Amino acid sequence: MIITLDGPAGAGKSSAARALAARLGWCYMDTGAMYRAVALTALERRVSLDDAARIATLAEEIQIEFCDGRVNVDGRDVSVEIRTERITAATRPVADAPPVREAMKRIQRRMAEGIDVVTEGRDQGSVVFPHAELKVFLTASPEERARRRHHEEIGRGLATSLESVLESQSRRDDGDCSRPVGALRQADGAVLMETDGLSADEVVQRLADMAEACRRIRGNP
Ligand code: DC
Repeated sequence: MIITLDGPAGAGKSSAARALAARLGWCYMDTGAMYRAVALTALERRVSLDDAARIATLAEEIQIEFCDGRVNVDGRDVSVEIRTERITAATRPVADAPPVREAMKRIQRRMAEGIDVVTEGRDQGSVVFPHAELKVFLTASPEERARRRHHEEIGRGLATSLESVLESQSRRDDGDCSRPVGALRQADGAVLMETDGLSADEVVQRLADMAEACRRIRGNP
């Protein structure tokens, strides 16, 4: 069974998807981390970020794995490196390139074959798994998302302002919604979940209830 969780940056998708997968005992696929891992590898191998065909091949060549909450590329833990500002910026052109998205779609479908998975990103319900048993579009108001991210950044000791978080979030939203292929949108048949005013635990509980209802309908144990 496949559950897709899509939505804008800062909607709390990653923590919700990870917690839901842990609760169900399923695999968790962080597709943003996969795009980041490809961008990191391209930089390391000095492949131009404009060379979409070469990067698409690179994506097929490397082995991306999720292990105990970590992201490995060819057996190397890159969980921290892929979260830097440099990689966030490099990931944008990589994720915008149609040949890379095609390759990622194939890889993500292969990874989910025959297993129960919670997958999270921008296009999981709309493009990669349009027939997923449960599709959720998780979102929150821009102010709420920025507040959460700001809180996280302060917690990590970063000196940022709420205004600058809002500004960069708005740039990312524009980029995510306007990419020609794989743009962020609520998939047909996806349940819209607005998380303003909900705690992280409440979000996971609602998702788990939906997953349970879905399993019952399908007659799974
Ligand atoms: O969710 P994130 O910030 O880790 O995503 C990193 C980048 O990858 C961001 O630019 C959005 C993009 N992305 C995408 O285009 N499609 C996905 N399925 C997941 C992420």
